[in-house]
Amino acid sequence: MKTIIDKNKFGPWAIVTGASSGIGKGFAQQLAADGLNLVLVARRVSLLEELGSELAKEFKIQYRTIEADLSEESAIKKISEATDDLEVGILISNAGTGNVGKFFSVELSEHSYILQLNAISHLSLIHYFGKKMASRERGGILLTGAMGAIEGVPYMANDAGTKGYIQSLGKSLHNELMEFGLHVTVLVTTPTETPVFYKLGFTKKNTPVQPISIQQCVTEALSALSKNKVTVLPGLKFRIMAALTPGSLVRNMSGKMIKKNNGLI
Ligand SMILES: NC(=O)c1ccc[n+]([C@@H]2O[C@H](COP(=O)([O-])OP(=O)(O)OC[C@H]3O[C@@H](n4cnc5c(N)ncnc54)[C@H](OP(=O)(O)O)[C@@H]3O)[C@@H](O)[C@H]2O)c1
Repeated sequence: MKTIIDKNKFGPWAIVTGASSGIGKGFAQQLAADGLNLVLVARRVSLLEELGSELAKEFKIQYRTIEADLSEESAIKKISEATDDLEVGILISNAGTGNVGKFFSVELSEHSYILQLNAISHLSLIHYFGKKMASRERGGILLTGAMGAIEGVPYMANDAGTKGYIQSLGKSLHNELMEFGLHVTVLVTTPTETPVFYKLGFTKKNTPVQPISIQQCVTEALSALSKNKVTVLPGLKFRIMAALTPGSLVRNMSGKMIKKNNGLI
């Protein structure tokens, strides 16, 4: 793997949420290859342990795992206590999910769960780790948003709202935290081949444009963070699509596709 993140600038520790699977696991693998020590966070701690010990062996790094449910307000306390003695120079705030459903068919408690996991947990993590980085005048924050969210996604209205929040928060902080020497980048995640992609009813057959690999997503995202780009939309084909398609059309098409793929009547 080619080095992307300079450990002398962003090390010695990186924290990755949602590291048990998909894009988060990919981030952990690349950062370990770059020589950063890792704090791995998710609910499935056995997967984190497996990944951590593998990476420690291969790249001679240190790791720590934290079993935390980021839909719970108390998660930030658990994470801050477990990392208090570490110098964390990179926050990859990536954990999250999406659920398809008609707005009124989904219980309010489920909407609130998504809001806490996809938005408020990111806010708490940035506030805690970002403040420490600002006092050291170096560090990087990468937030995982989603393509199209800012335009709205029918049948995923609340989910899209939370990802839209991430995008606006990250873009604002990109400028605001520059004075502390911090890099802040929003990953506007394009369709990427992970469990979430399939959970939303997509398959390689029913999708007009094929998803990109985790490796491509991670490489483009970390390169953008290293260069302090405000946003990154991985995959040239998706960048072209986003540039050429008006928001109203994207919203219309994604709503129709999600409705059909998930048998919503
Ligand atoms: N793949 C795509 O096409 C796509 C598109 C747009 C946005 N995204 C975003 O990309 C991010 C990564 O998703 P992915 O595609 O890599 O899917 P994934 O493979 O399902 O990974 C999701 C990660 O989030 C963690 N997570 C979920 N709920 C959690 C909770 N309550 N507390 C703590 N951790 C939790 C999961 O760990 P545990 O289950 O072990 O807790 C897992 O590690 C998500 O924010 C997702 O919304 C993905």
